[in-house]
Amino acid sequence: MTGTTDLKLEVTDVTKSFGNVTALRGATLSARAGEVTAIIGDNGAGKSTLIKCVSGYHAPDGGEIKVSGKPVHFGSPLDARHHGIETVYQDLALADQLSVWQNIYLNRELTAGPWPFRVTRRGAMRAKARELVGDLAVNVPEVTKTVMRLSGGQRQAVAISRAVMWSNEFVIMDEPTAALGLRETQQVEALIRRIVERGTSVLIISHNFEQVMRLSDQVWVMRGGRVVNGHRTAEVTGADLVAEVTGAAAEHF
Ligand SMILES: Nc1ncnc2c1ncn2[C@@H]1O[C@H](COP(=O)(O)OP(=O)(O)O)[C@@H](O)[C@H]1O
Ligand SMILES: [Mg+2]
Repeated sequence: MTGTTDLKLEVTDVTKSFGNVTALRGATLSARAGEVTAIIGDNGAGKSTLIKCVSGYHAPDGGEIKVSGKPVHFGSPLDARHHGIETVYQDLALADQLSVWQNIYLNRELTAGPWPFRVTRRGAMRAKARELVGDLAVNVPEVTKTVMRLSGGQRQAVAISRAVMWSNEFVIMDEPTAALGLRETQQVEALIRRIVERGTSVLIISHNFEQVMRLSDQVWVMRGGRVVNGHRTAEVTGADLVAEVTGAAAEHF
């Protein structure tokens, strides 16, 4: 497929300032359907701000965002969710005292009745969460476990599972393995591969060049609020990417 139809996301010339701080100076990138698209760049480059504009957390000051070829103007994260965009933020936003399945349904079942859920709803939700987790076939623990007891990697897996439960179209992740060891990083990468295999497009911010090389199909390099380079991952080396990010830092100092 060619043309714009296979583009899940098109961000064109997006700008965003916070008072005197200009976080995005006209950022342009795209993400193809069915792929893992990575964003790399130094601290402060504007990566998180960019994805927060896509996920409805910030309203951009200017520019255009298209999802599946259609221009969108999200007023809130809920708005973005209604367009099939789910985001896993760095803080994960899990409720420690609740179980895995309750976290998967957190804030989604308010219309079904007041907390606590009626027994039949609870059973159905638990079963559905268990089915999803089973299908993802990764390091997500038993759904009745309390999130507080989980490791960092398992918590990340719960947050990703929740995103996939609510959108199998497009999931955005901000540094999903930043706080994890090698083994847990590999498990989260396996989970990301699995959700792409099931048909979900993924946009991921990563500081880990090796991970970007292993996982992504396309990589964009951000610097100073702009997207300054983009590559098919197969056409670059990790060393090329390091040079583009750190070389940029050398220019600044
Ligand atoms: N809510 C905010 N208020 C003020 N400044 C912000 C806010 N969010 C981000 N910034 C600033 O915008 C710039 C880009 O930040 P960010 O998008 O978080 O970069 P990155 O994720 O690439 O590290 C930084 O200078 C940061 O301090
Ligand atoms: Mg960030």
